[in-house]
Amino acid sequence: MKRKVTKAVFPVAGMGTRFLPATKSIPKEIMTLVDRPLIQYAIDEARAAGIKEFIFVTSRGKSALEDYFDDAPELENSLRKSGKTALLEMLKQTNMDSGAIAYVRQNRPQGLGHAVWCARRLVGNEPFAVILTDDVIAAEKPCLQQMMEAHAETGGNVVATMEVSPERASSYGVLDVAEDMGSMVRAKGMVEKPPMGTAPSNLAVIGRYILTPNIMTNLNRLKVGAGGEIQLTDAIAEEITAGNPVYGYRFRGQRFDCGSKAGFLQATVAFGLARDDLRNEFSQYLTETVALQKAAQ
Ligand code: UTP
Repeated sequence: MKRKVTKAVFPVAGMGTRFLPATKSIPKEIMTLVDRPLIQYAIDEARAAGIKEFIFVTSRGKSALEDYFDDAPELENSLRKSGKTALLEMLKQTNMDSGAIAYVRQNRPQGLGHAVWCARRLVGNEPFAVILTDDVIAAEKPCLQQMMEAHAETGGNVVATMEVSPERASSYGVLDVAEDMGSMVRAKGMVEKPPMGTAPSNLAVIGRYILTPNIMTNLNRLKVGAGGEIQLTDAIAEEITAGNPVYGYRFRGQRFDCGSKAGFLQATVAFGLARDDLRNEFSQYLTETVALQKAAQ
């Protein structure tokens, strides 16, 4: 029987240089999309997919992230006293049960593969998910849940994939496709940041993974790859070489790269427009702003 995936690793030890100076004192994962920090979107998606244990790989300067998940008794009391029950309920959803979250430290940012490897003892010998909080995905059914359903059928390693233009492919891990089954592809290779013009397909891997424990064994070799970093892509590609299955899953939904300024702004617009309480005012503002810009050109 396939083992249920109940653990997720959230690598949040990167330096977030693209958001300096904000990230000088605020972890990137605490940056706010409408009214929730990025990390909340990731946690909600993981919970919806049945994750019970949340493993954060952190680094120096991330204490605001750890505090975020604590109960806030004074705030809760004050909301209770003033009868703000809706806010109180919303706040309670951000609390995490004692023991559900574990933090491990990555002492130096040596790459995504290294960050995942730092969680090896907490993950143990079971399949696990990896969620990159920078990738926020708007979807009717949360992306990781879609992937869990696919994984329940296939087992093996499943990575989220989406089509990108040839010019963009060199910014991603890219799949070399052996067989295309529609929503799933079976990979015969995987390359991290292929030089321009060499990408084996237009299928880029984005920040959702369901991985077998073998990946940790592969990471034990701490092999340095593209950009001088220890790459998760390389550890996954080694599985293919060893004859073990790696699938790309074409998720249904829209992914925003909230690790980049343009992506973050696009997500802010999309998530703002998706909100019943903001839509009218916000869309009117956007329409007027665009019209004014056009008139000025
Ligand atoms: P990024 O490539 O976006 O790097 O990492 P970054 O440091 O967060 O941001 P920039 O490029 O400097 O602006 C992708 C994900 O992998 C994590 C990051 O926290 C992010 O979630 N990561 C990356 C680590 O945890 N450790 C690393 O050594 C590298």
